Amino acid sequence: MRDKVLINDVGPRDGLQNQSSILSVEQRIQVIRGLLNAGVRSVEVGAFVSPKAVPAMANTDQVLAGLTSESGIDRQVLVPNAKGYELARRAGADTVVLVICASETMNQRNVRMSVEDSMAQAREICRAARTDGIRVVGCIAVAWQCPFEGATDPGRVMDLAGQLFALGVDDVNVADTIGAANPKVVNDLMGALAREYGASRLACHFHDTRALALGNIYAALEAGIRKFDSAVGGIGGCPFAPGATGNAASEDVVMLLEQMGLDTGIDLAALMDVGKLVGSMLGVATGGRADTWRRLQLEKGAPLI
Ligand code: COA
Ligand code: ZN
Repeated sequence: MRDKVLINDVGPRDGLQNQSSILSVEQRIQVIRGLLNAGVRSVEVGAFVSPKAVPAMANTDQVLAGLTSESGIDRQVLVPNAKGYELARRAGADTVVLVICASETMNQRNVRMSVEDSMAQAREICRAARTDGIRVVGCIAVAWQCPFEGATDPGRVMDLAGQLFALGVDDVNVADTIGAANPKVVNDLMGALAREYGASRLACHFHDTRALALGNIYAALEAGIRKFDSAVGGIGGCPFAPGATGNAASEDVVMLLEQMGLDTGIDLAALMDVGKLVGSMLGVATGGRADTWRRLQLEKGAPLI
């Protein structure tokens, strides 16, 4: 049996939160349905954040309401605080992703509170989620570099991960929010985290700002990580972290993993269609770095994998 890798597509959240055009609820649902039809089993469908802070994520409850008939999938939503958790619970999310930044300045810019206060919110959310049967992912943002404070101390990330696991999160997602990590530091940190907490409860999230997202994914794979965030079409970025560009494109990530013999369960040609769809909705070119090659292969009837 091939080794399995779980792809969590964050396009409908990370991908859409930073675009100049805002998609309608129906368009967001159409994109998510496309992902599910392509075989994606985990999708970050939106965020319960202040609509003033991130207008593109308003009405995430309606997005979830449009996805109730789908089964066997993990509908994740980002929440910044206990209020967001309560809204997510009421709307029927399967998993909440709570974000803690590894630097004080970034945490203040993102959620307007200290890391300690975010941790207190995380404690409250974890306690409620256990009773409500909702999964919790603790995401450590700016885990390698902060746009305001520079390089992140790996010890700080180890410590935050330990605190999150102690609160009862199911997984810890380690995020290179601005795309400034490289394969060496990724392998070092993910290796250390995997030794301490076990690779099966860790995930990674990379942006492709310096064209190193795929290299970073490979470095994390080598450290034993088998869960990755990526965004269909390579859209994405954080409105509060200057310089961040798109996420690793799901199309490129699936291609990399499947070519290496790993099993994502995703139909790459179908995924490419979703990338094209979201690109046409947003009016931006999408598809990932190897899009031209993949399209030529399809034209020739040649394999993608
Ligand atoms: N969802 C929706 N509304 C929320 C909310 C949530 N999770 N949390 C707070 N609010 C509302 C409050 O009810 C209040 O509304 P009102 O003005 O109508 O009374 C308003 O937002 C301000 O509340 P306050 O607690 O003072 O929040 P704030 O202004 O300090 O902002 C956050 C804090 C966390 C709500 C805001 O910074 C945020 O949503 N950040 C998200 C950032 C993000 O998504 N980053 C990208 C992903 S990492
Ligand atoms: Zn991101």
